[in-house]
Amino acid sequence: MGGNKARKLEFILADAKAKGADVLITTGAAQSNFAMQMAAAGRKLGMHTVLVLFKGQHPEVQGNLLLDQLLGAEVRIMDVGLTELNKIYEAMKQVADELGRKGHNPYLVPPGGDMPLGTVGYVVAAREIYRQLTDLGLTANYLVVANGVGGTQAGLALGAKYYKLPFTVIGCSVALTKDECRYLCAELCNNAAKLLGWGITMSPEDLTVFDDYVGEGYGIPGKACIDAIELVANTEGIFLDPVYTGKAMAGLIDLIRKGRLTSNDSVVFVHTGGVPALFAYSKEISTELKPEFPS
Ligand SMILES: Cc1ncc(COP(=O)(O)O)c(C=O)c1O
Repeated sequence: MGGNKARKLEFILADAKAKGADVLITTGAAQSNFAMQMAAAGRKLGMHTVLVLFKGQHPEVQGNLLLDQLLGAEVRIMDVGLTELNKIYEAMKQVADELGRKGHNPYLVPPGGDMPLGTVGYVVAAREIYRQLTDLGLTANYLVVANGVGGTQAGLALGAKYYKLPFTVIGCSVALTKDECRYLCAELCNNAAKLLGWGITMSPEDLTVFDDYVGEGYGIPGKACIDAIELVANTEGIFLDPVYTGKAMAGLIDLIRKGRLTSNDSVVFVHTGGVPALFAYSKEISTELKPEFPS
């Protein structure tokens, strides 16, 4: 149910396993898709998970947090904001030290799995998308994807460049400014390329990111996002999520409406998951969907 993080975890947890880790530690918002998927993947490999989460918009036991509990993850929620992540990193380090003293071998993973190894998962995905299109006799000149901290877009863009694939990757930011996204993405591209032994580099200017669809901020779905979720459910029977893919789809719709993407373009929307958060956001979403409901 979580989505894109399985591709990153395939590589990250292989490294954890190779290093003999028995406990995984990460962070994110209370409704983090990555945290939940890491707990699930850890279970599959017989590893315990500690999640040091910040409250975010929905710290109630719903959506991903409910799944974290079902997965038996140890959840610690801290009352800190997005600007105080250093307090969270400190707490993660303390947990790792504590566990180390008890004879465990903890493995720390950055939020969203945004590390070069995770990016490699999406390098592979770029080639896979191209092959699937080719098998279907199709081609695409754009991929559209949500950009959180950038690892997903970085992997797709690096894969597209290295394998000379015909598409440009468009990222729709859900939190950061365009410049922040492009800088972080380029850094992840370059570190992943180094890891793969590829002699190519990418600069922020090589990456296409729009930050017009962030709305009021990370984890706050605006009307355009909720309208996009409703439209795709109603026309395709597919569920988007209120934090990532809803905003990215709002971006794709807007780019079409503005004529930046036309019927001459062929676009693949990369659905990166996140569906469990829909349930945690039921109040915002159902109110937006039924504004004229009689009281
Ligand atoms: C559902 C979903 N889509 C997209 C993203 C963005 O991924 P990235 O941080 O690699 O940009 C995330 C990250 O948490 C996510 O959970």
